[in-house]
Amino acid sequence: MRQYENPQFFQENCEPQRAYYIPYDTMEKALAGKKEESAYYRCLNGEWKFRFFARDIDVPEEITDWGTIPVPSCWQNHGYEKPYYTNINYTFPVDPPYVPDDNPCGVYATEFELSEEWKERETYIVLEGVSSCFYLYLNGRYVGFSHVSHMQSELNLTPYLQDGPNKLVIKVLKWCAGSYLEDQDCFRYNGIFRDVYLLSRAKGHLQDIEVKISRDSVTSELAFTMYEGTEEVKDCSSLVSWNAENPKLYTLLFEQAGEFIPIRVGLRDISVSPKRELLINGTAVKLKGINHHDTSPKTGFTMTEEELRFDLTQMKKLNINTIRTSHYPPTPYFLELCDEMGFYVVDETDIETHGFCTRLGGNGYDIENNYWLCNREEWQPAYVHRISRMIERDKNHACVIMWSLGNESGYGKNHDAMLAYAKERDGSRLMHYEGAFLIEDKCDVDVISRMYTWYHDLDSFIKKEGEKRPYFLCEYSHAMGNGPGDVMDYWEKCYASPSFIGGCIWEWADHAVLSDGVYYYGGDFGEETDDGNFCCDGLVFPDRSFKAGSLNVKAVYQNIKTEIKDSVLTVLNRFDFTNLSKYRLYWRVVVDGAKTAEGELFCDIEPKQKKEYALCLNLPESCKFGAFFEVFLYDGEEEIAMEQHRLAVSVKKLAPIHYQPESVSFIENEEKIQILGEGFFYVFNKHYGNFEFMEKNGTLLFDEPVTMSVWRAPTDNDGQVKGKWGISKGNNWFSQNLNVLRNKVYSCVRESNVITVDGSLAGISREPFLRYQLVFTIGSDGRVRSELTAKVRESSIYLPRFGFEFRLPKTDAPFKYFGRGPMENYVDLKYHTRVGVYESTPSKEYVPYICPQEHGNHTETTRLFVGGLRMSADTPFEFAVSKYSPQMLTQARHTNELKEAEHLYVRVDYKMSGIGSNSCGPELMEKYRLSEKEFTYSLIWN
Ligand code: GAL
Ligand code: MG
Repeated sequence: MRQYENPQFFQENCEPQRAYYIPYDTMEKALAGKKEESAYYRCLNGEWKFRFFARDIDVPEEITDWGTIPVPSCWQNHGYEKPYYTNINYTFPVDPPYVPDDNPCGVYATEFELSEEWKERETYIVLEGVSSCFYLYLNGRYVGFSHVSHMQSELNLTPYLQDGPNKLVIKVLKWCAGSYLEDQDCFRYNGIFRDVYLLSRAKGHLQDIEVKISRDSVTSELAFTMYEGTEEVKDCSSLVSWNAENPKLYTLLFEQAGEFIPIRVGLRDISVSPKRELLINGTAVKLKGINHHDTSPKTGFTMTEEELRFDLTQMKKLNINTIRTSHYPPTPYFLELCDEMGFYVVDETDIETHGFCTRLGGNGYDIENNYWLCNREEWQPAYVHRISRMIERDKNHACVIMWSLGNESGYGKNHDAMLAYAKERDGSRLMHYEGAFLIEDKCDVDVISRMYTWYHDLDSFIKKEGEKRPYFLCEYSHAMGNGPGDVMDYWEKCYASPSFIGGCIWEWADHAVLSDGVYYYGGDFGEETDDGNFCCDGLVFPDRSFKAGSLNVKAVYQNIKTEIKDSVLTVLNRFDFTNLSKYRLYWRVVVDGAKTAEGELFCDIEPKQKKEYALCLNLPESCKFGAFFEVFLYDGEEEIAMEQHRLAVSVKKLAPIHYQPESVSFIENEEKIQILGEGFFYVFNKHYGNFEFMEKNGTLLFDEPVTMSVWRAPTDNDGQVKGKWGISKGNNWFSQNLNVLRNKVYSCVRESNVITVDGSLAGISREPFLRYQLVFTIGSDGRVRSELTAKVRESSIYLPRFGFEFRLPKTDAPFKYFGRGPMENYVDLKYHTRVGVYESTPSKEYVPYICPQEHGNHTETTRLFVGGLRMSADTPFEFAVSKYSPQMLTQARHTNELKEAEHLYVRVDYKMSGIGSNSCGPELMEKYRLSEKEFTYSLIWN
């Protein structure tokens, strides 16, 4: 066994893990907290010498032929090995503690010189993250070893220093025994991927600092002075407590041996109520969460401070208040920001051994088997080591409210040991581990944590008899691609259930590799095992821009809930700590797209309380399209919440079709009917049962046959059902082949101005799933009413959608609609949109999901004017206008594979199934499926 394969060889000559801090040379600098200003801090980031060896045994004594690499970075982003994405599978055989014989090694080198002042003192080096482990040398002498990729290591360099340049060499190995504990679902990167810096320390300096906080006090065994900003706090009797909504921080200054060490603290305590609520400072809170990985499309694991801050700024915009640091501790700066900006954090130990589930082929937790590392005695120290280092580093952060034992690693006695250790060391936070579900929670975790619980199973946890612990979804709503849908359902349940304390959406950002403007994912790099685009499952795109799913979550997580009834507006304040008077509430009435009344309200409403306001709405008797009441909540200029309510104003029905026999001529042969009237000329194809040409007032509307279809380019969240709907090539017995659709026309007859079609739709090789009668009534003015009556086979699978597809002449000209917009929306993903009058273009409708898929849908529409085509209805329909056909979107795997076609594709649907989150989450909820067995669908064309 090689040294680094020994699971008990963690560190050599490293300092004991301590709380993260930076020592300063003056009080002023310490209070300002800018580490670069400290005379005792020296960042070593920059361009280093680098050599990559495919086998560590090839690393020579003396390296001459150096290349360079930036520190911090991942070597896969610099041409040394390719990115490698795998979810569960390990990248090597599962034979712990052994790693492959050919273990790649990156050798890093740099030089630094010390000032005279530093030479008088001690010098330490801190590495905040290195994957997977490193051996460190100074001036040709071995200093020490450390591992645990996402954890800070500190080594004392003092005895190895010399005058003049000091030569630092760090050998980083791709794998070590620790790699067995780091099987997280992400691109697998290596290198020195977080900051490296030197600290100059006084002899006799403070090694560690620990503070104990409660909601109104802070104590430490060490002496400190407390500051609010730069003002010393003399009277500690009325300190302001910390919470995610009001993240009040104080700075504690510890002074020793000429060093000033600032520790920023927030005052808060955590407990659980008898109703199983999570209490922060005695107040029940809901965790509106997200899982956060460190991921950048250009730099992999390496994220700059600006990028991390940007992540949190974007999260705040989405009303997110909780982060699970999946699946390892973040860089310390991230937690400082969470303290400062106000987030509750579930800090997760750097442990995941998911690949044991697939080690035999198949996939399952056979945790009674002692092959699992969590059961093996010799691995127990490693488990405890990892959680203890996290706790020691992060113990002073107000933001951290739970410690997590890691992710997807089974459950065994080593977890018991971690729990026992952590509870003893820090009982002030809740202990979290989802893997405890495997032993039915018969262990000492403090929360019942689950992933992706199906909606109808929620009650079994929420109402579990005898249970005292809160219920928490550490992962839910798999946000992959277009989605996630149905988030609102979970939150209505959460608000209604004290014991359901919230959850964290999986996950924050898409993981991808950006190259030449294209985002690549698993399988694009020739990996031997990969999970495709399963890494592109973020609530935001890789560049952190928002998609419909992001803004829908913003609306679900927003902190007001309103109702309007008989001109009385009820406002519920859903903040946990903040009076609504801090924000500005604006309302308006919009009738047929025009504002008819508006106002502002000063809402002095305490958290979790409601108030009613009588308003003067001035509503008309009736309207043409619809009347709505809209509420907006502003924080300064920023809209933080929005709701729209349909008002009870009757909407006028569309004018019926009028027909005078002499006004329209019908010229009919075996196959076609030519229809000619004042200003219009249509061709109806009897053979196919639909129009194939329409021209009105000299404008060509379309010259391609209209079809009926049910296919949508599968979304990532259709991942499970798509194989039943259709798609695959070859002999697939289990699919309904809805993407290879056949329309059968049994009869088509015209009587006067009415054409009646009887037909059916079937997937190839399957019994028809839908039989229909479609009646077209042609009016003297060229308007056509289509009325479809459908019967769906009892045994049919629910349909992706159902409606007409039109191929219009290609154009990117604006089109207009009255419906839900402006962004795409679906029946279960729509709270970010409002029904109204909108104008858009085909280009604007395109959404660049990393793997092309269904997008651009608009629900609750009653008018659509595109090209010369005008569609209207009394009962809302759904539509999409796209430069790409569903077939093109189905086939493309990356956005650059989409080539613009010769047509504009317009889809006008009876309904479209919802989105859900079944890429990993539960199946689409019944109520969001298009599973009706009988329905009618009417439209007026033109
Ligand atoms: C969970 C896991 C995550 C991620 C997700 C799917 O089971 O904890 O790490 O793999 O599924 O994207
Ligand atoms: Mg996993």
